[in-house]
Amino acid sequence: MPHHTVSPSSCLPRHYSNPKADHERVYGPSERAILSRAAFDEAMAEIGAWPGYAPTPLRSLPGLAREAGIDRVWYKDESTRFALGSFKALGGAYAVLRLLAREVTARVPGVPVTALDLVVGRYAQVTRTLTVATATDGNHGRSVAWGAQVFGCNCVVYVPSVCTPGRRAAIEAYGARVVVVDGPYDDAVRRAAADAAEQGWFVVSDTSYTGYMDVPRDVMQGYTVMVEEAITQLPASERPTHVFVQGGVGALPAAVCGHLWESWGRQRPRFVVVEPHNADCLYQSAIAGRPARSQGDLDTVMAGLACGEVSLLAWAILERGADDFLTIPDDGAIIAMRKLAGGKSAGSGQGGRPLVGGESGVAGLAGLLCAAAHEEVRMALGLVPDARVLVFGTEGATDPEVYERIVGSSPEMVAEGLISAAGR
Ligand SMILES: Cc1ncc(COP(=O)(O)O)c(C=O)c1O
Repeated sequence: MPHHTVSPSSCLPRHYSNPKADHERVYGPSERAILSRAAFDEAMAEIGAWPGYAPTPLRSLPGLAREAGIDRVWYKDESTRFALGSFKALGGAYAVLRLLAREVTARVPGVPVTALDLVVGRYAQVTRTLTVATATDGNHGRSVAWGAQVFGCNCVVYVPSVCTPGRRAAIEAYGARVVVVDGPYDDAVRRAAADAAEQGWFVVSDTSYTGYMDVPRDVMQGYTVMVEEAITQLPASERPTHVFVQGGVGALPAAVCGHLWESWGRQRPRFVVVEPHNADCLYQSAIAGRPARSQGDLDTVMAGLACGEVSLLAWAILERGADDFLTIPDDGAIIAMRKLAGGKSAGSGQGGRPLVGGESGVAGLAGLLCAAAHEEVRMALGLVPDARVLVFGTEGATDPEVYERIVGSSPEMVAEGLISAAGR
């Protein structure tokens, strides 16, 4: 964990302008087969009725906009999303619900199955016999485990060996069995798929691969609830000119890109995908012009982005929908976390109340700050003084121990504005 003073100017991003980007292309049937307004309406009606649902705040960060030399920065703050503190609550749990509803309907034909039916255990004799399995580097597994607990089935979650004890415990807290796989995230994906096939379990993965598309499509569609909230919350007269979104397997950036593309067509903002230097599968795919593996070793503090292979469904949207691909060093995320925690404090803060953003959660913002601090990248991305940028703060302190080590204060202290000087 670097303790030296770091600034965006010491974090040089790599930038690749996507030659396949097609801003004129209409959102057509091949895109709509993945994400669509109709499927969004279903997801919104469902998730919007869950207890505890509330849109997360969209915050304006004037201090960071000034620092980046642009007009506006909006930060969609997912740190309060249900009890999970990350946008992933919208995806995995929704996919578990859809899967269980399908399976119950197949066994008890004729009656539509609602979320409430499952929550109150009306079909418990069926759901109790079903097991969902997934791989995760933290947040997705927590969402699937939560969904399994709420909707009444069993759950097994595979984590890579680098998954921290805090993240493992958070999954177990929802009653799931956690299996540690000796290898990176992509090995955990394969092990989950193999064990599920052998045991007759259902895979609820956030990444898609050949022959496995339906569930990851539901996961991505769940994420679009967050995007629609942001559209509603943005001032109508001030649409963003740019969106910076972090990617792991790419489901998140694809959900944001697809929903904005379908909603705003050619008027959609310039779309920038941000990844860690060491986990750059989307960046490498853009260069190769087809799905490609990361060239880095996946060693990054941005745990949720430590993925070596892209989701095929996500790539199908990003291939033409993403305008730019950026990669950043870990220090970029660390700086962004500290700046958000700094709030109004002179010289280090974002110009508002202190905000708690986790390592993967701040990566889009970090990409913006790193790009803005380097003239060549800044120009290449068109970050002119009247640029307005939307970023998604996709998690709060989902591992409080890691957070405190990086920021120097606990998430609670930051939220209360009691930040220690050591943290900055
Ligand atoms: C907080 C956070 N942000 C972003 C992502 C990236 O999402 P995706 O892998 O769908 O690209 C993840 C994935 O785990 C995450 O946990």
